[in-house]
Amino acid sequence: MNLVEKNVIYFGGFGGIGQKCIAQLLEKQLKALAIFDLTENTKILDEWQKKFPNTDIFYQKVDVTKKSDIEAAYKAASQRLDYFDVIVNGSGIMNDRLIELSVDINLMGVINSTLTALEYMDKSKKGRGGLIVNISSVVGLQPSPLFPVYAASKTAVTCFTRSLGVSFYYERFGVSFITICPGMTDTGLLDDLSSKTIFDFETPLHKIAPKIKRQKAEECARSLVKAIEEGKNGDVLMLELGTITEVKIPNHWVHQFDD
Ligand SMILES: NC(=O)c1ccc[n+]([C@@H]2O[C@H](COP(=O)([O-])OP(=O)(O)OC[C@H]3O[C@@H](n4cnc5c(N)ncnc54)[C@H](O)[C@@H]3O)[C@@H](O)[C@H]2O)c1
Repeated sequence: MNLVEKNVIYFGGFGGIGQKCIAQLLEKQLKALAIFDLTENTKILDEWQKKFPNTDIFYQKVDVTKKSDIEAAYKAASQRLDYFDVIVNGSGIMNDRLIELSVDINLMGVINSTLTALEYMDKSKKGRGGLIVNISSVVGLQPSPLFPVYAASKTAVTCFTRSLGVSFYYERFGVSFITICPGMTDTGLLDDLSSKTIFDFETPLHKIAPKIKRQKAEECARSLVKAIEEGKNGDVLMLELGTITEVKIPNHWVHQFDD
């Protein structure tokens, strides 16, 4: 999608990846950018507003564990913007000691945001189509023994998003769905890993995990912006160490019909 004059909503825009991604998105001459996040970062918001006076940049407080917050935020944004072109669902936590909260933020937040956004974007209703980008993870593609709850929530995000990224929904809604799977990226999400694993005892992976190469948030953001510009409906894109790889996930079950 060509981003010039587009309206973008970014969930988790003040987070590590979110901030870097927004800084790069704003270079694309957006019409408007709404940051939906739990807490406001007035300093950085002020900097963006000064640097990009031609883009309407604003913050909307949202706790994605509350469906009513999500609905209210979209409603408020719709009163300011005529339509939404791109939604990035990028809120998330990685703390397997907080099981319900992990599922509520990482999965329920994405589901509720996606379905609420569709109410506005669905071209068979009042919308004009667009793109919904859901941020999963490389552990939304494979197991993660240290963080099974996080991996489960992200695997569900991958499957949810892929399930919507089929042609008959596209023909009805005019909305494309892309799954983004970043590899380890240097942000606060990875701080203090050993206090957030599912169990509190040492495993062989506790020694390995801190040594795994991480990409910088800027690198992940550069790939994410490229994915928004070039991604196709149903794509699953792995963003690892500054590169983008399209992931093809096979269907193992082939359904049979009664005669
Ligand atoms: N950093 C990594 O290694 C990595 C790897 C793969 C995927 N991801 C995913 O990328 C996304 C961004 O992660 P990050 O690394 O920038 O982490 P981060 O901790 O820097 O940012 C997370 C963002 O989510 C927001 N958030 C948390 N709880 C919320 C809530 N209840 N309501 C609304 N917003 C809430 C935070 O305010 C913050 O803006 C997340 O979905 C994360 O799971 C990160």
